[in-house]
Amino acid sequence: MKESYIKNLYVKDVGLFEELNIKFNKRFNFIIGPNASGKTSILKCMALTMNPRDAKFSRYGEHSELWIDIIHDEKNFRIGLGKGWVVNPKEYRGAHIKRYNKPPSEKNMISLTYNDLRQEIINFCPLFIGAYRRIDYRKIEGVQREGPPSEQRAKYRESSVMNLEGIFLPNVKRWIINRYFSIDMKWSEIERKNWEWLIDKMTIIPPKDTDFRFIEIKKDLEPLFSLNGVQCYLEELSAGYQAILSLIFCVFDWIEGTFKNDEDRLVKNARGSVIIDELDIHLHPEWQFNIRDTLERIFPNLQFITTTHSPHLIASAKSNEIIILPPFSRTVDVMPTSKTYSGWTTDQILEDIMGVKSLENKLYNRLLKEALDCVNKNDLEKLKEIIAELEKFTHPSDVIVQQLKLKLASLLAEE
Ligand SMILES: Nc1ncnc2c1ncn2[C@@H]1O[C@H](COP(=O)(O)OP(=O)(O)OP(=O)(O)O)[C@@H](O)[C@H]1O
Ligand SMILES: [Mg+2]
Repeated sequence: MKESYIKNLYVKDVGLFEELNIKFNKRFNFIIGPNASGKTSILKCMALTMNPRDAKFSRYGEHSELWIDIIHDEKNFRIGLGKGWVVNPKEYRGAHIKRYNKPPSEKNMISLTYNDLRQEIINFCPLFIGAYRRIDYRKIEGVQREGPPSEQRAKYRESSVMNLEGIFLPNVKRWIINRYFSIDMKWSEIERKNWEWLIDKMTIIPPKDTDFRFIEIKKDLEPLFSLNGVQCYLEELSAGYQAILSLIFCVFDWIEGTFKNDEDRLVKNARGSVIIDELDIHLHPEWQFNIRDTLERIFPNLQFITTTHSPHLIASAKSNEIIILPPFSRTVDVMPTSKTYSGWTTDQILEDIMGVKSLENKLYNRLLKEALDCVNKNDLEKLKEIIAELEKFTHPSDVIVQQLKLKLASLLAEE
C-alpha cells in the first residue's frame, strides 16, 4: 500500500490562533502543552478541513483560512478552506460556510476542498477520536449491514468534528458482533485475518501479568471477556479497559470499513491517519508507558496524531515524536523535537518539558537547596538535621540523599 499521512496543518485566524503552523511525523505525534494551550483546537482544525459544515464549533477572523497538506498515493494534496469561506465569523455558534474556497496551491500540489472529497477525487478519510471513550450500554439486535467503503468514508468524514466533541460516539459493540458472526463466511477472508490479528495481540493490550481475553458472544449478543479469570461483559469493564478497547476496535472498524483494496484493509498493512484527543485518558501509569508500543505493534503503519498530559507517555516517545506547544500563544510554529526523554525522571519531565511550576516549592527541592547551602557554609549540625528530615519521606535508595550522607561523613572526617 502507498503512503498516506498528514504532513502539516496551517491555520489563520481560527479560535485562539492568529497563525498556526505545525509539522507532523509520519508515525507518532504527541502534542503536549498546558491546559488551554490549544491542543484540542489543533485537532479540531484538522477535523474542520474534513467537514467545514461543522464550523459553528469555533469562531474565526474574517479572512480565516485553514488546511492540511498530505501525501496520499505518492501525490501531494492540500485540503481545506481558502480565504472568504466563512459567514458570521465572530458570532458564537453562529459561523457557517459560505463557499468552499480552495486553499492556495503550490507547485506539485493539488488543492482540494470538502466538495472534492465528497466526490471522492481521493479516498482520503482520517479517523478522529475524542476524549470521551466510555462504552455506554447499547442493545444490539443482530448483525447489521455495513455500507460500501465510499458510504463509510463519507460517514467518518462527516462526523470528524462531532467525534472530537464527543457528540457522536462510535458503536464498537456493533463492530465486535458483526465480526464475530461473519468471520467464517467465504466473503470475509480479510476480516477473519484481522480478527485473528486482534485476538493474537489481545495479550499485549493490558499491563504485564494481566490475563485478559475475549471469550465469546452469547446468544443474547453480549460480548464476554475474561480478566484475570473473572468473566466480564463489555460494559462491565473498567474505564481504562473501555478506553483502550473502544480506541482499538474503532480503528479496526475504520480500517475495514473505509479502505477499498483487500491488501489495504489488512490491519497490519493499513496506512492512514488516526487523530486522538488525550491518548492517556483513564490509563494507569504503566499503561501510559506502554500505549505507544502497543499501538505500534497492532497498527505498524498508521500515523497517530494525539494530545497528551502524560509524562510517562512522553518518556516512551522516540526522537521526533513530541510536539511542544508554547504555554499560551496566538502565533505558533512548531514541529516534533528530535529530543527524547526516556532517561528523565517524571519530575524532570513535569518541570522542564511540561512547565509544572509547583514542583519548585516541593519540600524535597527546598530541603536539597538548604542542604547544599549547609555544605557550602560547612554547617554540619544543620546538614545532619536536614538529612534526617529528608530520610523521613524519601525512597531508601534515593541517590541524592545517599550522596548527601557521604558528603556529611567526609566533612565530619575532615573535621
Ligand atoms: N474564538 C476564540 N478566540 C480566542 N480564544 C479562543 C477562541 N475559541 C477558543 N479559544 C480559547 O482557546 C483555548 C484553547 O482550548 P483547547 O481546548 O484547545 O485547549 P487544550 O490545550 O486542549 O486544553 P486542555 O489540556 O485543557 O484540554 C481555550 O482557552 C479557549 O477559550
Ligand atoms: Mg484539550
